[in-house]
Amino acid sequence: MRPFDAAAFRRVLGHYPTGVCVVTAMTDDGPTGMVVGSFTSASLEPPLVAFLPDRRSTTWSRIEGVGRFCVNILASEQHAVCDALAKRGGDKFRGISHRLSANGSPILDSVVAWIDCEVQAVHDAGDHLFVLGRVIDLEVEQPQSPLIFFQGGYGGFLGIVREATAPVR
Ligand SMILES: Cc1cc2nc3c(=O)[nH]c(=O)nc-3n(C[C@H](O)[C@H](O)[C@H](O)COP(=O)(O)O)c2cc1C
Repeated sequence: MRPFDAAAFRRVLGHYPTGVCVVTAMTDDGPTGMVVGSFTSASLEPPLVAFLPDRRSTTWSRIEGVGRFCVNILASEQHAVCDALAKRGGDKFRGISHRLSANGSPILDSVVAWIDCEVQAVHDAGDHLFVLGRVIDLEVEQPQSPLIFFQGGYGGFLGIVREATAPVR
């Protein structure tokens, strides 16, 4: 095996773009949330989504205690929301406008879409955890460009160059 270090791992994986979401939950102490780039759809039947929180995340342990969460897909101009909720600890939800879903999880204002979930399973994934969420409700709020993270910076989707012709999953 060719040896590589953490910097090489980060550099190579940084060439793969991700969307930027905020995973939220309503705790007894109020709303909480964390930014994740590791969100993906996982299964259609049953409807499952997934993301990978760091084992050290204090926000994830609070969300896990609630047992349900909402994935908020940020719009390309929601940098300020991203910066606020990527902070470690503290009252980072202060000033973030939102409403509650029917399931009681926070839906942030002006997001592209949201996916409301219950925690289905939590698996080991090295220094992270692999969280599977059972989707119980979902909606598109504003069909506009999501916030995209790529090579250490943020951007938006500039437009479709060619419609997909091959079947997508
Ligand atoms: C673009 C971006 C993507 C991120 N993706 C993840 C992720 O997939 N998993 C994760 O645990 N943290 C991720 N983070 C970092 C968390 O948002 C941040 O560490 C967390 O909110 C720290 O707070 P806590 O320790 O209070 O939970 C990401 C941050 C940014 C800016």
